[in-house]
Amino acid sequence: MSLQQQLTEIVSDAFEAEGVDRSYGEVVVSQRPELADYQCNGALAAAKSVGRSPREIAEGVAGRIDASAVIAGVEIAGPGFLNITVNITHLATSLGAMHRDERLGVDQVDDDRTIVVDYGGPNMSKALHVGHLRSAVIGESLKRIFKFLGYKTIGDIHIGDWGLPVGQLIVELEDRDPGLVYFDPEYDVAADGPYPTESPVTLDDLSEMYPVITQRCADDPEVAERARRATFDLQNGRAGYLAVWKHFHDVSVSGQRKDFAALDVEFDVWYGESTVHDRLEPMVRDLLGSGVARESEGAIVIDVAEPDDAKEFPPLLLTRSDGSYLYSTTDLATIDMRVSEMEMGAGLYVVDARQSLHFDQVFRAARKAGYAPEGVLLEHIGFGTVNGKDGKPFKTREGGVLRLGDLISLITEGARKRLDDAHIAADYPDEERSEIARQVGLAALKFGDLSNHRMSNYVFDIDRFSAFEGKTGPYLQYSAVRIKSILRKASDAGISAGPFIAPSVDQERALMLRLVRVQEIVYRAATLRAPNVIAEYAYEVATDFSRFYEHCHILREKDGARQASWLSLVEVTLASQTVLLDLLGIEIPERM
Ligand code: ARG
Repeated sequence: MSLQQQLTEIVSDAFEAEGVDRSYGEVVVSQRPELADYQCNGALAAAKSVGRSPREIAEGVAGRIDASAVIAGVEIAGPGFLNITVNITHLATSLGAMHRDERLGVDQVDDDRTIVVDYGGPNMSKALHVGHLRSAVIGESLKRIFKFLGYKTIGDIHIGDWGLPVGQLIVELEDRDPGLVYFDPEYDVAADGPYPTESPVTLDDLSEMYPVITQRCADDPEVAERARRATFDLQNGRAGYLAVWKHFHDVSVSGQRKDFAALDVEFDVWYGESTVHDRLEPMVRDLLGSGVARESEGAIVIDVAEPDDAKEFPPLLLTRSDGSYLYSTTDLATIDMRVSEMEMGAGLYVVDARQSLHFDQVFRAARKAGYAPEGVLLEHIGFGTVNGKDGKPFKTREGGVLRLGDLISLITEGARKRLDDAHIAADYPDEERSEIARQVGLAALKFGDLSNHRMSNYVFDIDRFSAFEGKTGPYLQYSAVRIKSILRKASDAGISAGPFIAPSVDQERALMLRLVRVQEIVYRAATLRAPNVIAEYAYEVATDFSRFYEHCHILREKDGARQASWLSLVEVTLASQTVLLDLLGIEIPERM
């Protein structure tokens, strides 16, 4: 249990004994650390409902809280705030427990559900660009957070590889190179392959073709119609199309694997929309048979509107009138597959906030169809856009979208330059310097994203993200590396860590109070699906540490017990930052 929970329990008991609902006993960190460690504002909130003055309630509650192993004292401030001071011995004991435990004393959940995190989600044939960054970075962090808390997690990339874009690319390729054997229907029928093993296109070709064909479809209804037909034929097993699809798929995936690996983003499974293609036809048939789905102007739909909806909920489309399947069809079938084959207990979809209607529709349909029983949680974890300094979605100076690979090189070079300018790691071997630059670049990129609440849009500003001062990834890395070097120096001087004793200096006490909150913070980040809670906290740990280190000269301290306790505090700080940054997907270099 976190300290905040322990305090909440004690104060809630006191509210209850006072005849006030215990929910008013919620304790939070004090907004005035100079006055108290924690506070409870419940008396003010409760006053109306119990018809007593806040001050009177606060006095009653405070009178029922004895000084204990956990609480040193309670004071009433202003109209009825309860100011709580933590027992210093308890603080020292809690830190001792964190020090001995590689999980930092963070409880594991008592919940054996499997959480499927659906993130990344690139469409086939697309080289990754900056637009793919948020889903990858936020999804990876959430997956790590839930895993750390003890859930079984499966990260699934869910590639967009079975919809209209594939049909469009087939048409584009056919128009460019009609002689290819994949397009010869006679050959399909006659030989059913075999088809060439060499791909007729590279990923660069596909990325170039994609905008061309989408424009052609927009301009010419006939081309659009051919693309729909090609999609239908592919989905219905036309051998030549399947063979060319396989090439598209393989060249895309090999490029995307490299890009995600460069981001240190790892998926457990590389499934896609096409993974469920065998399920689509029987699924639609069953849903029609059971009356969950119905026909509508040649299409097949599921009604998902509910009587008290505040906004309009159009039906979910299962098939177009030409019989082809859509994004919604594969998402629905995927839920069925995940629940029945992957034992999904919760599905978290880390996808652009603009897709919220789609997910509302799909989730409702999944309940109606019985694919996701009540107990299975389905959640769209939306996020805002990455903007340029002009406030519009981020583009390169030439107005194009920045490829993820290029972005990573850019930010790595930037990091390298910063290191040079600051004379950091100047005399290290070149290979090590490159590795540090890579780690620093990724930290800049990820922290620049994760330090914002996911629903906010943010401005992509490489210079700001890669600074070594301020709330940035590189600052946090640098601060952690400095701690490592302090520990090395201490070890060289023969100083070793020892039991925590009561803090003697304010800055020390502040750091201790900060560090005992790790459990509270990680759980809050999980509950809110908000890695920025961890980012913010890690930054506060770093600033509290630097204040502590400025005041407490560990290596020169004469009192051996104090010195040993301080060294333990340094170790817990490093252990916490290591865990927290890892939950954000950020590595700490050994030295820099
Ligand atoms: N491929 C989709 C897109 O580019 C994102 C996929 C998100 N996941 C999902 N299960 N729909 O918009």
